[in-house]
Amino acid sequence: MRVTCSNCHKGFVIPDERLPMGKKIAFPCPACKGTIELDLRTTSARNDGQRTQKKQDDSLTGQALKKKILRHMKDLPPIPQTILKARDVMANPDSDFKELANLFETDQAIAAKILKLANSPYYGYSGKITSIQRASVILGHRTLVELLTVIGTAGLLGNKLVGYWLDSGALWKHSLAVAFGSKIIASKTEPALSNDAFTSGLIHDVGKLILDQYIKERWELFEKFMVDGEHTFLDAEKKILDLDHAEVASEVCKSWNIPEPLTVAIRYHHHPSQSNGSELAYIVHVADAIAMMTGLGLGIDGTLYQMDDKAMEFLNLREENLNDIMGKVLEAVQKISE
Ligand SMILES: [Fe+2]
Ligand SMILES: [Fe+2]
Repeated sequence: MRVTCSNCHKGFVIPDERLPMGKKIAFPCPACKGTIELDLRTTSARNDGQRTQKKQDDSLTGQALKKKILRHMKDLPPIPQTILKARDVMANPDSDFKELANLFETDQAIAAKILKLANSPYYGYSGKITSIQRASVILGHRTLVELLTVIGTAGLLGNKLVGYWLDSGALWKHSLAVAFGSKIIASKTEPALSNDAFTSGLIHDVGKLILDQYIKERWELFEKFMVDGEHTFLDAEKKILDLDHAEVASEVCKSWNIPEPLTVAIRYHHHPSQSNGSELAYIVHVADAIAMMTGLGLGIDGTLYQMDDKAMEFLNLREENLNDIMGKVLEAVQKISE
């Protein structure tokens, strides 16, 4: 069902299977936090069979549930090996193009995607990059790493996530916005971190892919916990599932052999002050808040997003920088999506 907030007029798609048909409900708008009211009393209760099944799935809690969720992590497809190897090759300053070319010879699908993305309006070389070698010369290794990360995660992050109210492609847009935002912030504060910031930003919410199914099964508990408007969605994850999507994401990173500084940043992207001073964690955190402000790929957890009080000071950013970064992020996501 498509729902429009009467306050900010933003539209959201709520999957029918999650709506409590036959009831009147009210919940906070993910964008403006105003109240959205829905009267579903005229729609007869459906999916009774599905509800019984759901009740059975709901019964697991605490440690047993946590264990089950962490086991489920293994179902996530791995990042294509070519991408991990290419990142390794490019991280080595002595590597030459031959090594990289050999790698792509064995994975033509990825080579084709690189060329397509390299010629997108974002990089500004429309139609001029005709081979991987040219891409490597014109764009440089750093940008090639960025391209590879985008390609390696696009399929995975494009999925629809019913529990988070994210339509197909919404998490992907949000992730791109956080990746670009992180890169822009890093270029202001610590340029050497730009590439790592981009990658961390891109995969920071990967834990949602795992938790989505468990949230869907326990939607009524989430709704009850959130009803007073005082708790964040992240609090609800922790309370009901015993772990939040940032913790799950860091486990996924470990299984993908993502370097530790990135794993730490992702683990603490909602609470950077607990990261032991990880600048990357602060960068991704602020970029996440900026991405929420753009409204790109907003889901249920856009409600009550809490920015750490010290984050702006830590990164030496001012209020006016946020608007400037937001404009650049919107432009980048639009151009790369074309
Ligand atoms: Fe997050
Ligand atoms: Fe996020």
